[in-house]
Amino acid sequence: MKPIAALLPLLVLAAGPLLASCKNSGPEMDFERMVNQAHFEYYEETPFFEDRRVMREPPPGTVPRDRLLGPPDVMNGTADGKFVEAIPIPLSRPMLDEGQGRFQVFCAPCHGAAGDGVSVVANNMELRKPPSLVAAPVLDYPVGRIYQAIAQGYGLMPTYGSTLGVEERWSVVAYVRALQLRTNGVAVDTLPEPVRVRMQKELR
Ligand code: HEC
Repeated sequence: MKPIAALLPLLVLAAGPLLASCKNSGPEMDFERMVNQAHFEYYEETPFFEDRRVMREPPPGTVPRDRLLGPPDVMNGTADGKFVEAIPIPLSRPMLDEGQGRFQVFCAPCHGAAGDGVSVVANNMELRKPPSLVAAPVLDYPVGRIYQAIAQGYGLMPTYGSTLGVEERWSVVAYVRALQLRTNGVAVDTLPEPVRVRMQKELR
């Protein structure tokens, strides 16, 4: 028996014209057929179901993905249609550490590790650069607006709503606030009493 390798050049020769003809005169792919197939429109009638409605009720116990499962200030960063001014969940050191970690993974690539908008990505983004988060106007935003940018995205910025859970989003907001304080300084008399006393003692 001849080794199969010896047949290969023959095969190629034979298939060549076939392949060439496929390329030029093959049937067009009909990608529109799924759009054009017989189907019902919303609110139409159908004999298929007893109540004749095309639109069905969701099965019992189904939860819509975007249903608010908590108060709107926590879930959306808004109260009475306005952005909240204060972070609506209790803050803690571990939470701030988590925010730092999440920020460095998800925000720093564009907004810079210091939040000042200096990054390789920013350098190369032409349409709209990621703004500094530690200078005006973002510096003066209520925390709810920062939260919403994370939860829903903003303009050219993608949403992080499916990547970061509600508490993680607030932890990132808290860390952005910390970066803002670090960059812009804090008035001593706005510090919480124990921190102020300790600081004054240590500086004396
Ligand atoms: C892919 C790059 C990119 C990443 C990653 C990114 N941003 Fe942005 N961000 C942008 C750009 C670009 C804008 C400006 C969008 C515009 O104006 O269209 C923006 C705008 C913002 C604003 C201003 C929104 C407003 O209401 O004006 C905030 C606050 C913000 N980002 C926070 C964050 C935080 C926090 C993270 C991390 C969870 C993050 N961004 C991740 C690119 C990014």
